[in-house]
Amino acid sequence: MSESCRLVAETLEGIKKRVVPGITTAEIDQYAEARIREKGAQPAFKGYRGYPATVCASINEQVVHGIPSGKKLKNGDILSLDIGVFFDGFYGDAAITVPVGTVSSEVMNLIKVTEESLCAGIAMAVPGNRLSDISNAIQGRAESGGYSVVRNFVGHGIGRELHEDPQIPNFGRPGEGPRLVEGMTLAIEPMVNAGGWEVKVLKDGWTAITKDGSLSAHFEHTVAITKKGHLILTKL
Ligand code: MF3
Ligand code: CO
Repeated sequence: MSESCRLVAETLEGIKKRVVPGITTAEIDQYAEARIREKGAQPAFKGYRGYPATVCASINEQVVHGIPSGKKLKNGDILSLDIGVFFDGFYGDAAITVPVGTVSSEVMNLIKVTEESLCAGIAMAVPGNRLSDISNAIQGRAESGGYSVVRNFVGHGIGRELHEDPQIPNFGRPGEGPRLVEGMTLAIEPMVNAGGWEVKVLKDGWTAITKDGSLSAHFEHTVAITKKGHLILTKL
């Protein structure tokens, strides 16, 4: 899994530099697919339940599962990029949100708090804790920043399948759910909205947007629970 996850991280890192005003998300998608295939790996999302691309590219009020297109990114947009890879029998999955050109300090704060909410969740991903300790920590950080966490999409177990048990909500009371033990591998992925938590899915059947049109950010890591703590597999 560390190899699949390293390729996810390297691909996201390579994309980051290419996110500039004027580029299209279809170009980003082509770059990602080429990088993954040249390493002998496969894009995990392409063909998954009919999803048509390598990358999920969600712009501004798009929460997750934005389909890459020929539309050019503009200065001031924010872009969430989600990538999954299948290599040698195992999956890796991660996401980042990046500014396009220059964005306001308010918008940078949404991105920062969302990443911090992921970090707060990961900090609880240690043996002996319960699953919802992760969920509660994520919600706490996002809401203390004045934002809301999306309810309709969740993190997940990952390994031989892209989506395994357990589901990992990004909200909830602490101390509930299965106890975390060494060897579990989890994709933890908060989606945080500047406004309300409600989302709707567009007619393309994939793109989730905020109901109130507010901006949304998304960060994800694949994490392994180890004897003493955890390893973030999708971190370079
Ligand atoms: N990171 C998301 C997830 O794990 C992306 C899935 S996109 C899909 O659910 F196309 F594979 F559905
Ligand atoms: Co995921």
